[in-house]
Amino acid sequence: MKIGIGSDHAGFEMKESLKAYLGSLGIEVLDFGAESAEAADYPDIGYPVAKAVAGSKVDMGVLICGSGIGMSIVANKVPGVRAALVGNPEVARLSREHNNANILVLGARVTSLDDAKTITKVFLETGFAGGRHKRRVDKIVMGETRKEEACMSKVHLIDHPLIQHKLSLVRDKNTGSKDFRDLVAEISTLMAYEVTRDLPLEKIQVETPIGTADAQVISGKKVGIIAVLRAGLGMIEGMLRLIPTAKVGHIGIYRDPDTLQPIDYYCKLPPDVGERDLILVDPMLATGGSATSAIRFLKDRGATNIKLVVLVAAPEGIKMVQDNHPDVDIYTAAIDKCLNSHGYIVPGLGDAGDRLFGTK
Ligand code: PRP
Ligand code: URA
Repeated sequence: MKIGIGSDHAGFEMKESLKAYLGSLGIEVLDFGAESAEAADYPDIGYPVAKAVAGSKVDMGVLICGSGIGMSIVANKVPGVRAALVGNPEVARLSREHNNANILVLGARVTSLDDAKTITKVFLETGFAGGRHKRRVDKIVMGETRKEEACMSKVHLIDHPLIQHKLSLVRDKNTGSKDFRDLVAEISTLMAYEVTRDLPLEKIQVETPIGTADAQVISGKKVGIIAVLRAGLGMIEGMLRLIPTAKVGHIGIYRDPDTLQPIDYYCKLPPDVGERDLILVDPMLATGGSATSAIRFLKDRGATNIKLVVLVAAPEGIKMVQDNHPDVDIYTAAIDKCLNSHGYIVPGLGDAGDRLFGTK
């Protein structure tokens, strides 16, 4: 385990003592300052530690200032951080079990060093309980991706147990290409059910063998399913199982591995794409560059009603899509923690295209 630690001047002495204490427990510590007890502004230390935690450069953080308040405010402004200001071991335990806190904040002027050591040990040794607490923490993550209330309602986390179960299998690095493909197709079918929930119906009458039934059918809506190549191909078949009359379009986009910028190389769309309700599919929403570019492509060709369906989304990708296309609903089976330095979703499922087609 690697811990990022930081303090302002008021927390300097406690930081030094905790650093030595953590070292004696065999824990690797990355010290972000302050370097001495001379005046240091807590945001200058708090932000780098919080960003290191959010970016998975360290596993967890410990921040210390006089009361703990300043560091808490700073750390909790960084998406992906859940910083807990803790004054006793019981709250330390709860902050991990219930809130999956990833930064411990201590007030050096209100907490003794002995208590701080006990609190830190409990914090680092306690795991997240999951279950109902996961649902709540997921809602915190969703809240981080939006600027306004309206954005929140545009992100649909599909947490049906069947989808979550299959997604766990898809994430597993030991799942081979064939099973991966089958599972992605099955999840896509289940997601199609959610995505089409608002299709309009019209009343008809049907003659049954016994009498006349007042019934309903989908009111002639024209649907288009658009796959972002390559990985979006894996979702088409599953979607078509529920929406067999949909027309299918393809947009070829890949990410430049160095710049992570989307590069488009192919496009074949139904001619009446502007008149259709479009479901854009791609298993991964990472930086959001590919999805943002694909949506722009569709809008430039007249599309006005687009839903984006992914299996795993990063907060960064959700934010980019919402910033550029606030009208687009995003359906995802999971919102993961963050991106790594190569733009891959953490923990994600790896490279979706390669896993689908066995190219690595
Ligand atoms: C993957 C994935 C998305 C894109 C997501 O495709 O299928 O299209 O990355 O990343 P972004 O949100 O940062 O743009 P990739 O570029 O690997 O191409 P491939 O499917 O052809 O392998
Ligand atoms: N593309 C993928 O296939 N996986 C990621 O994690 C990010 C982009």
